[in-house]
Amino acid sequence: MKTVTARAPINIALIKYWGKKDRVEVLPFQPSLSLSLDIFETKTTIKEVNLKGFHFLINGKEDEEVKRKTEKFIHLFDSNLSLEGIQIETNNTGPTAAGLASSASGFAALAVAANHFFGFHYNLDKLAAITRKGSGSAIRSLLPEAVAWYPEGHIKAIEFPFDDVVLGVIIINDQKKSIGSTEGMKLSVETSPEYQEWVKQSFIDFEQFQEGLKEENFNKIGQISEDNALRMHHVCETTTPSIHYLSKKSYEVISFIQKIRKNKHFEAYVTMDAGPNVKVLTKIKYKKQIEEMLHHQGIEILWSGIDTKGAVIIDG
Ligand code: DP6
Repeated sequence: MKTVTARAPINIALIKYWGKKDRVEVLPFQPSLSLSLDIFETKTTIKEVNLKGFHFLINGKEDEEVKRKTEKFIHLFDSNLSLEGIQIETNNTGPTAAGLASSASGFAALAVAANHFFGFHYNLDKLAAITRKGSGSAIRSLLPEAVAWYPEGHIKAIEFPFDDVVLGVIIINDQKKSIGSTEGMKLSVETSPEYQEWVKQSFIDFEQFQEGLKEENFNKIGQISEDNALRMHHVCETTTPSIHYLSKKSYEVISFIQKIRKNKHFEAYVTMDAGPNVKVLTKIKYKKQIEEMLHHQGIEILWSGIDTKGAVIIDG
């Protein structure tokens, strides 16, 4: 019986996506740029089974809500597709404590698996147009290493010249669940007085970041990433009602990293998404010391390298 398995990495944006100019096609107002990471991946298997109906398991368990979303997503390929006698199993492998959202790797793995299993064999552009409708940021999990996503909708692999870059995830668990990114960015587009300025600056950040890559200037890309992330959070805070993803603890960790950069000349920069965790963009040579200094303060950091595989079929 037919079976296909795909895997996809998570990704962290260094130039952020925050706002859709087309919510149906999922087209962003601004270009974004991410790194695919090897700390966490989703593996998704689609197979024929001798059972009636459509079966779905996530991390070995049934989940009606994710099952419905999965069915809806598969029907973006073809609304008449039958899932009768089909089972989809999806597993997230990586440290669950990292609090890393699995939706990006999840939709990318599902898109690649479904494209192959149902025999569509769409090219990257067509597949990307479907994947982003699962979740915008998932489109960037289709490719390894550094990936750009453009307001016109397509993605492109970006040459990443550093082989010693790591990303640390600092887990901050002191905040209740805030508003989700879909709803949060919609409110920001509609109400933040900073929104237009944020879009304008995102284009500049995107260009300068790529200049930094060409110049192999790590401090330049680090500083642009940090400023871009803080600006996104400023947009959230100036949204009505105000959105606060970062907690007091997040801000303490952010200033701690900024301090070691200033005082110890460590090349370390922060980036934060729609939650309180702080991610640290740095180089292998600073890993041990950063980890020790944080440990001293009772703070844990999990390290990730850069994914080199992207979203691919691994079986079938
Ligand atoms: C802060 O991709 O989760 O992580 O497209 O509505 O599913 P939807 O939003 P989502 O937003 C991600 C926002 C972000 C920044 C980023 O990844 O670029």
